[in-house]
Amino acid sequence: MKNNVYHDYLVETWRPIENETVFSALELGLFDDISHGLNTPEKLSSSKGYHLPTIERVLLTLKNLDFLKEVSGEYQIGDKYSPYILKESPFYNGDIWLLHKQLIRDLASHLSEMIVSGQSGLNVFASKDSKVWESAMPFLNSLAKISAKSLIDQLKNGLLEEDNLKILDLGCGTGIYTTTLLKENESWEGFAIDIDSVIQIAKDRNEDLISQKRMTLYQGDIFDVNKEVPEIDLVILSNVMHGYNDQENIELLKTVSHYLKPSGKIIVNEFMLTNPSDNLESIFDLFFSLVGTGSSFTPAHLLQLFDEAGYKKVDEISLSGPSTVYCFANDKNEKID
Ligand SMILES: C[S@@+](CC[C@H](N)C(=O)[O-])C[C@H]1O[C@@H](n2cnc3c(N)ncnc32)[C@H](O)[C@@H]1O
Repeated sequence: MKNNVYHDYLVETWRPIENETVFSALELGLFDDISHGLNTPEKLSSSKGYHLPTIERVLLTLKNLDFLKEVSGEYQIGDKYSPYILKESPFYNGDIWLLHKQLIRDLASHLSEMIVSGQSGLNVFASKDSKVWESAMPFLNSLAKISAKSLIDQLKNGLLEEDNLKILDLGCGTGIYTTTLLKENESWEGFAIDIDSVIQIAKDRNEDLISQKRMTLYQGDIFDVNKEVPEIDLVILSNVMHGYNDQENIELLKTVSHYLKPSGKIIVNEFMLTNPSDNLESIFDLFFSLVGTGSSFTPAHLLQLFDEAGYKKVDEISLSGPSTVYCFANDKNEKID
């Protein structure tokens, strides 16, 4: 009789092959091809020129992982993950393959070093290397697209009703949070700062708002105060703080205070550690500690940081997806100098 535990152990220790199969399928657009009718190994092989025995094995592996199902010898997209793997879906999240191939595979190989010394020898989060963020941007944008929509739904009848707000997105990525907000209230004006290579991507994606002078993008370091940015009503820090340690984050929050009006607020969007038995939370926490000098936040840790920097929590919004938004205001009793 088969030893099931040993079987399961082998599956766990051979997961990289499964992961790479999924990443290759996403890279090649295999799921899209299958949903468009190239639904047998033979059709994929003759239409795309794929090596027949390899594509047969790949499809079988994807079927065993529930990404595909097989009906009368033809493959179909499995229901479970279909919203995330088909490019035409609004929830498409398939660009993760790029991030893994360009960055995470290499980063993860430094984990033993990190366990032994507490340092991976890499700090890619603060990196100006264009490869790092260019490979992450498509994935981050697909994640942000979903979170931004969820955020807007919750800000309707509240903040979005206030007119003529100026917002500043620090570490803006593609700028999707700002653009989504600007599209909701036409009287708002947006400013955003990120490193050069990322700002180029944001510029290409937001030509309309830029030419209408509703959005201004600056290349720069978010730890430096940009004197061209006017007084700001709302600062966005989305998935930026987890790349930095407490000391750096306090410094960042002090920089933020230079921009904010006395009535100004900060919106923080972060992956949180709320449940130690949730493996997605623990995986992200470990990943963030490898990628930069920070990690995920427990709610208490985040609140303590903002308290130390002179802000108080005014709102908490749970988004669809793995992150939570916290809204902080200047705390008049403990103003930063
Ligand atoms: C994880 S991404 C988040 C992007 C976007 N805010 C989002 O939520 O999708 C972090 C961003 O912060 C930027 N960033 C990190 N440290 C920075 C620094 N010191 N100066 C400028 N940008 C920085 C990175 O270039 C990257 O675009």
